[in-house]
Amino acid sequence: VAGWGVISDDWPGYSLDLFSYPAHYSGDLDCVIIPHGVIMDRTERLARNIMDELGDHDIVVLCVLKGGYQFCADLVDRIKALSRNSNRTIPMRVHFIRLKSYLNDQSTEDLHILGAEDLSFLAGKNVLIVEAIVGTGKTMKTLLKHVEAFGPKMIKVAGLLVKRVPHSSACVPDYVGFEIPNRFVVGYALDYNEYFRDLNHICVISESGKLKYKI
Ligand code: IMP
Ligand code: MG
Repeated sequence: VAGWGVISDDWPGYSLDLFSYPAHYSGDLDCVIIPHGVIMDRTERLARNIMDELGDHDIVVLCVLKGGYQFCADLVDRIKALSRNSNRTIPMRVHFIRLKSYLNDQSTEDLHILGAEDLSFLAGKNVLIVEAIVGTGKTMKTLLKHVEAFGPKMIKVAGLLVKRVPHSSACVPDYVGFEIPNRFVVGYALDYNEYFRDLNHICVISESGKLKYKI
């Protein structure tokens, strides 16, 4: 599919020896699937695409915590840089929403919107939902329904990663960084039971890593 970076199933990833990463995760990872620098370069381009389409609109950025915090911070940073350096600007507000659905590496049925306060200020606004990863799409579908109920003028979704999951609810974000194989990835704020958020590359977790941090 054109329009975003497709990482194929047979891509072995980069050897961990090529990059630096925290020693406390040695043995817990199989490979680096997207190095931090590539994430940043792709994010810069997504910011431009967003600017081209939404420039001169006021937007409310809705950051999906916790996994989305790093991507959201970097994306907002790049949009700010573009706004400083051109005549088109995007006045932005940033808001946070916290979701939780995964236990170990499995999506659970019950999705929690934590601290789900009143989002009625979204009425009539242009909303940009920023999420790190879309797997089955269940989370995004639930969130979209939740946000739509507050009557925004427009909703766009930016997702850094989309997984090729069989029987996904076909919830494709408007802006996608990379399409990745159906493997559990961590790093760049993505976690496995709260571990690995302090890793800057996006990596595939190893079987021993899964066991070590299993709940
Ligand atoms: P979905 O409902 O299956 O689309 O899952 C989306 C949510 O699950 C995301 O917001 C992530 O928090 C989490 N998730 C899905 N796949 C991964 C993964 O490979 N690594 C870390 N978190 C993931
Ligand atoms: Mg998680």
